[in-house]
Amino acid sequence: MSDKATLEINGQKHEFPLVTGTENEVAINIKTLRGVTGGVTTIDPGYKNTGSCESAITFLDGEKGILRYRGYSIEELAEKADFLEVAYLLIFGELPTSEKLEQFHSDIKKHAVVDDDVKKILDAFPKAAHPMGVLASLTSALTAFNPTSVNVDSEEEMYNAIVRILGKFPILVAWTMRKKHGMPLDYGSSSLGYVENILQMMFKRPDEDYVQNPILVNALDKLLILHADHEQNCSTSTVRIVGSSHAGLFASLSSGISALWGPLHGGANQAVLEMLEGIKEDGGDTKKYMAKAKDKSDPFRLMGFGHRVYKNFDPRAKIIKVAADEVLADLGVEDPILDIAKGLEKEALEDSYFVDRKLYPNVDFYSGIIYRAMGIPTEMFTVMFALGRLPGWISQWREMRLRKEPIGRPRQIYIGETHRPFKDINNR
Ligand code: ACO
Repeated sequence: MSDKATLEINGQKHEFPLVTGTENEVAINIKTLRGVTGGVTTIDPGYKNTGSCESAITFLDGEKGILRYRGYSIEELAEKADFLEVAYLLIFGELPTSEKLEQFHSDIKKHAVVDDDVKKILDAFPKAAHPMGVLASLTSALTAFNPTSVNVDSEEEMYNAIVRILGKFPILVAWTMRKKHGMPLDYGSSSLGYVENILQMMFKRPDEDYVQNPILVNALDKLLILHADHEQNCSTSTVRIVGSSHAGLFASLSSGISALWGPLHGGANQAVLEMLEGIKEDGGDTKKYMAKAKDKSDPFRLMGFGHRVYKNFDPRAKIIKVAADEVLADLGVEDPILDIAKGLEKEALEDSYFVDRKLYPNVDFYSGIIYRAMGIPTEMFTVMFALGRLPGWISQWREMRLRKEPIGRPRQIYIGETHRPFKDINNR
């Protein structure tokens, strides 16, 4: 294969080098395009064909259904590693030794407190506030109580910023949920594992001890691992682009949370449950909703189905489907919503509309089901996604800063009015 691509514009040929990744993905490097062509640019709404960066963190092949963090398959990581190990792997590039992992956890625990004034900020939100808005605000508010910027050339400062946010973020998540439900704000226990502590912080009642259920710990651990990174998706690209202006880590993460909120991205897990509840209230007729999803004049889409990059079964969905079955069996949950979910899944997998378009259930279809069975309120689902995605955002931000990437600033093709004279207010 040639290592160059030729582009002909107005009879003039221009050559551009090809870049090949370690998994043999090929890209045309158009860095010099505007210069050599006298201002011609490219247009690619939604960036379906545009690589925004070179990255060594996550590889995914949507056609083959492959997802790997730092070279390790998601299947192996979900089976053999825990969330904190995966966080370390994503951020620093290698699996930690047991000493390094212990040190990492102990450093995170040192930072697992937030300034008590954060409670005042939380108190100012109405109970009806959406937890994602609260979480984005609280994450941004951390800049008021911590160093606002990080000297990225100092390994120590970088490390401290990372363990600081990994320590504080679960507290913000748990408090966001507890405040909404009128539960007293509490810290967990430094004697617990990272994920166990999250569960305790979220669910511990003030009048009784919290008893850990290993099946729930395992399911949450897996869910967080599966959500930990997904290369240049909407929220991650947002974190990178905000960080590229040298805004601090907390500010960049806060913007990622906002990007994740939307129903076409992380908000899909909430949208799945709301859709299922809507179907139940309307009599539980899944066939009717299958027909609506296929009707091009109807804006309804089957939430939790389809994916921008997976045109095959989402490998994360395969893993989490098993965990969902385990959790439901262990908790003995009988829930008509879950029956509707199973019905839709079966019908969609057999329906030519979905099969032809390669619209498979995505990870959010099953994560919502598990979260519901665990007793996590629907509005908190996307917050749980943010908790899992945190190490991915951190690792992508770190990589972007260490590679000294330039500020993100796309071009556009202007399609508005050409120059026109100003009209006096009386003549409009
Ligand atoms: N229900 C019904 N039809 C669908 C669905 C769906 N969920 N998803 C895609 N389609 C159809 C489209 O109408 C289109 O049909 P056409 O070719 O006849 O016009 C075709 O499938 C391709 O759809 P696009 O919108 O072009 O696919 P795209 O890659 O842009 O969108 C997306 C992917 C946004 C995820 C889409 O599948 C969707 O809206 N799914 C529902 C929301 C959802 O579950 N989002 C979570 C994504 S996972 C995540 O963020 C972690």
